[in-house]
Amino acid sequence: MSTSATPPLQPFAIRFGADNATLEPQGPTLQRRMSDLEGLFADRRAWEQAVADGDPVVYTVVSSPVPETARELPQSITTIFPGDTGGEFWMTKGHQHPDPQGEIYLGLEGHGGLLLFDGERAEWLDISPGVIGYIPPGWAHRSVNVGDEPYRFLAVYPGSAGHDYGWVLTHGMGLRARRSADRVELVPFGTPAGTAGPTARSH
Ligand SMILES: [Fe+2]
Repeated sequence: MSTSATPPLQPFAIRFGADNATLEPQGPTLQRRMSDLEGLFADRRAWEQAVADGDPVVYTVVSSPVPETARELPQSITTIFPGDTGGEFWMTKGHQHPDPQGEIYLGLEGHGGLLLFDGERAEWLDISPGVIGYIPPGWAHRSVNVGDEPYRFLAVYPGSAGHDYGWVLTHGMGLRARRSADRVELVPFGTPAGTAGPTARSH
């Protein structure tokens, strides 16, 4: 199986290659470059500069062949590379599930965070290898690499949940994760780049 399989599926095992984050058998893969993340970083000028300076790959996603259809349970492995743009840690686009269903993320390598936002409240979960972050139905979610190494996690989600990336552009994510000395600073989403957040939390 080199692409998404068609139900009904037979039971099968998927081998995870830890060295280079491969799945065998493997389904669709995608790569997000800086230019794919327009409108997501607080510092737009820093984002434009990063795009002009080689448009680096920010993260990759490798999926298993289990299809995104009702009652199936697809999985994917995301690798976010280390870095920051205008002080804001590299991150995924973030999304909401159009069909509100839960999801789990399991930390595999590196140190990251799982930012959750239900439209009113924001929560931050530290994710390291062996930690499972639970995403309840109705919470938009974004992953952030807060370390100096690639941050990698396994996602397992209902096949009919869907991905609404526009929700984040409209509603934000409640908080932003910024580099501050050797710690992670969480500031309110609307905090202008380069300024101190009024109610910053530290991790
Ligand atoms: Fe999701």
